[in-house]
Amino acid sequence: MADSPVVHWFPGHMAKATRMITEYIKKVDVVIELLDARIPRSSANPVIIELIGQKPHIVLLNKADLADPKATKEWTEFFMNKGITVLSIDSKSGKGNKKLLSIVERLSKPIIDRWMAKGIRSRSVRTIILGIPNVGKSTLINSLAGSAATRTANKAGHTRGQQWVKIGKNLELLDTPGVLWPKLEDQRAAARLAMTGAISDDVYDLEHVIKQLITHLLTNEPQILVERYKLKETEMTDVATIIESIGRRRGCLVSGGIVDFDKARRIILQDYRNGKLGVITLDKVDEEPYYADDNEGSRNG
Ligand code: G4P
Repeated sequence: MADSPVVHWFPGHMAKATRMITEYIKKVDVVIELLDARIPRSSANPVIIELIGQKPHIVLLNKADLADPKATKEWTEFFMNKGITVLSIDSKSGKGNKKLLSIVERLSKPIIDRWMAKGIRSRSVRTIILGIPNVGKSTLINSLAGSAATRTANKAGHTRGQQWVKIGKNLELLDTPGVLWPKLEDQRAAARLAMTGAISDDVYDLEHVIKQLITHLLTNEPQILVERYKLKETEMTDVATIIESIGRRRGCLVSGGIVDFDKARRIILQDYRNGKLGVITLDKVDEEPYYADDNEGSRNG
């Protein structure tokens, strides 16, 4: 189940991931796509809809505990308006699992009905979890699967190494998540993916990413900076002054009392990732979309 965020995606990786996911999708009846509720647009992979084809599909807004509930509601409506089945969850706590299983059951009912109409003896409905690195795929699999003891041995007819986890009476989940590549070609999305930890710390420019984060907070939610770091109004002028003030308060100093900007930036990033800045959704529903197909309808519901 290991998939590392330390993946440098280049065309070869993407082609391989596409092939693997296409193979996985052939084996399942329902596809579960995991997005980060803080960045539902930046954490989505536009290729996924093509790979899924006509299979029933559910979008999960994971890490909802770290996202602004109002924005999560807006994103939920956004997907629903496109005819996409959507649910916000927190896979770390398991909140939403029960609802997820009942939705998968609902989505798979027409398939089971078709099997019955054809006289095919019903088998378990199969599903897979897809998403970019660090979005919570393994956490969700573990949370749904419970103890490792429930994991079944390899079954005949499946690729070696693939395991199906039995969940309840009628559902099997592929124990290996499908790893999609993040949208690194879009600068805004790439910065947000870095903020949330979806891309490895050694492939992005920390200075740029923190500049984007502070600019976002300064523009949209300045009180978060004031409250968390006890900043005075006179310190809320520009990004450099804010980082310097935070660095001073947090004791990020080098000899001569000069602020270690890099250390201060890392503190801010950790605070954001750990939810210490509060619930913050970076992608807004009404922002200009990155992709022309963003507003197109989906094919399933
Ligand atoms: P992946 O398989 O998609 O790569 O992601 P994975 O499950 O490994 O999760 C990545 C990180 O996100 C983990 O944190 C995990 O605990 C956290 N996470 C997953 N789902 C949720 C959620 O719904 N809410 C919150 N707040 N966090 C979530 P980590 O720091 O890498 O590991 P750990 O110290 O938590 O074990």
